[in-house]
Amino acid sequence: MSNELELGSEFEAVLLYLKESRGFDFTGYKRTSLARRVRRRMAQVGIDAYSEYVDHLQVDPEEFNALFNTILINVTGFFRDPEAWDVLRSDLVPALLAERSPEDQIRIWSAGCASGEEAYTLAMVFAEAIGPDRFRQRVKIYATDVDEEALAQARHAAYPESAVEKVPPDMVGTYFERQGNQYTFRKDLRRSVIFGRNDLVQDAPISRIDLLVCRNTLMYFNAETQSKILGRLHFALAPRGLLFLGKAEMLLSHSRIFDPVDLKRRVFRKTTAATVGLGHFAAQSFAHERTTEIRGLAQLRDHAFSASPVAQVVVTGEDVVALVNQQAELVFGLSNRDLGRPLRDLEVSYRPVELRAYVEQAKVERRGIRIKDVEWQRGPGEAIWLEIHVNPLVDGDNGLLGVSIVFHDVTAARALLDELAHANRQLESAYEELQSTNEELETTNEELQSTVEELETTNEELQSTNEELETMNEELQSTNDELQAINDALRERSVELDEVNDFLESVLTSIRSGVVVVDGEMRVVAWNFGAEDLWGLRQDEAVGQHLLNLDIGMPVAELRPTVRAALQDLHFAETKTMAAVNRRGKRISLRVHCGPLRTPGGEIRGGILLMEGTEPA
Ligand SMILES: C[S@@+](CC[C@H](N)C(=O)[O-])C[C@H]1O[C@@H](n2cnc3c(N)ncnc32)[C@H](O)[C@@H]1O
Repeated sequence: MSNELELGSEFEAVLLYLKESRGFDFTGYKRTSLARRVRRRMAQVGIDAYSEYVDHLQVDPEEFNALFNTILINVTGFFRDPEAWDVLRSDLVPALLAERSPEDQIRIWSAGCASGEEAYTLAMVFAEAIGPDRFRQRVKIYATDVDEEALAQARHAAYPESAVEKVPPDMVGTYFERQGNQYTFRKDLRRSVIFGRNDLVQDAPISRIDLLVCRNTLMYFNAETQSKILGRLHFALAPRGLLFLGKAEMLLSHSRIFDPVDLKRRVFRKTTAATVGLGHFAAQSFAHERTTEIRGLAQLRDHAFSASPVAQVVVTGEDVVALVNQQAELVFGLSNRDLGRPLRDLEVSYRPVELRAYVEQAKVERRGIRIKDVEWQRGPGEAIWLEIHVNPLVDGDNGLLGVSIVFHDVTAARALLDELAHANRQLESAYEELQSTNEELETTNEELQSTVEELETTNEELQSTNEELETMNEELQSTNDELQAINDALRERSVELDEVNDFLESVLTSIRSGVVVVDGEMRVVAWNFGAEDLWGLRQDEAVGQHLLNLDIGMPVAELRPTVRAALQDLHFAETKTMAAVNRRGKRISLRVHCGPLRTPGGEIRGGILLMEGTEPA
């Protein structure tokens, strides 16, 4: 309770928001574990304050589902708590079937069925008991939950291998079809299982149920809501219907409406309110022969009657007060003066309970009647509890002598019972709390497990990426080696080319005459030292220039037709003499020999000009 108070109004505001915006009422759930789940979700979205979380719920429509999934713990399984299912299969179901005729319909309700394993377990148990054909004809299993997502899974009826591990192996073959890693529940039997949404707190229960299975669901609710739900479950059951709860759910505090059938396995039967017959008290005289020998026996009997600590009034067959003991005088203010008066004239005949009808009934039926739980307000603030026994007194021939009315004061016993009930409730709730914490841990564990599995997958992916990278690396390495080899070869070629170039350069340099080589476009590609000496233009100034654009003392325009012809005719060769001006500004006579530059294959790739200048004497 203190915990509930500590949670405070901000938490209540979250619950109120959920109720008003989504119509889902969590107020009947146990506060401590509810708050724990809400805080858990808040931590997942990085929110610390309840008020901030309400804002978050308002702006993010998906958040409600996520919260709902965190709050509603769907832990379940086939044949969950196998020991209890064993007893159900071996004892309780056969007994339930034996109590009904072979044609009777059997109505079963799995309330809080989560993803359906419990409902299909019930289907298997009953199909085993009566055979699949009779099962289809006689059995209806209603399976309900408040969680639509869980119901969708249940309707799908397909489960992973890990889920069916708990099903006895021979049943797996009989009741499931395997498709890869999925096990699907048999379709012909699946049709007898009807799934639907039902909120145990708010919705009307299903009726005329022979077996109601509500396991590991009640424990999430507080005592008040549990009582309310149990009232509905009681209503749902047919006479002598059975209620099968989870192992943490004991029902000790609801023993008035449910009788235990197997307390250990949490199986109960709906009680029908029964008056308890006590049998009749024959006013049987003691064995005459012996008692007549005891002197003063009548006086002894009177004193014993009078001194009894239990209040007692005896009336005759005509309802006239015959005997009143001391305790009755004390408790009800009776006295000797009341002897001989009709019972109806005394207050005790109608207060604290209307006695006359019971006295009449005891006389007519000749059996004792017990009136339980009679509260009597003796004075201000002084309530006592009575259990009244009304017994007919008959002689040996069943002739009526009178009626004894005994008032047992059960106030102390009742207080003890109340304390016991209170202790039981606390025990139940502690046990349930333990179980629900256990289930929370199971979900957390499952979540951790799936995180571990995800990490393992990521790890495997990384590993394979790593292996791919290693292969790529090896490929790159070999490509690199190949490139290196090509590079080395190129470098060798380059050295060779350099050598060839050096050789050609030195040939060109060693020729005293001017040598000019042009390409097909007449651009200068080689300009030797002799040409430099003749025209005063350095190699780096001449190479790349168009021959006809060179600003030198040679009349290049005159050479144009000759060079053109050399560029077009493989066999062309011409020697020309012309006037020119050398680099020193002296007039010279220039002899120019021009021909094509040939490739080894015999193609023209440019022209070559050899020049020699002579200064006039
Ligand atoms: C722990 S599971 C129990 C599943 C199954 N009965 C078993 O014992 O294996 C509890 C189920 O109760 C459902 N539940 C919670 N509140 C409910 C409500 N108000 N009405 C109906 N079902 C509810 C949850 O959605 C969840 O599926």
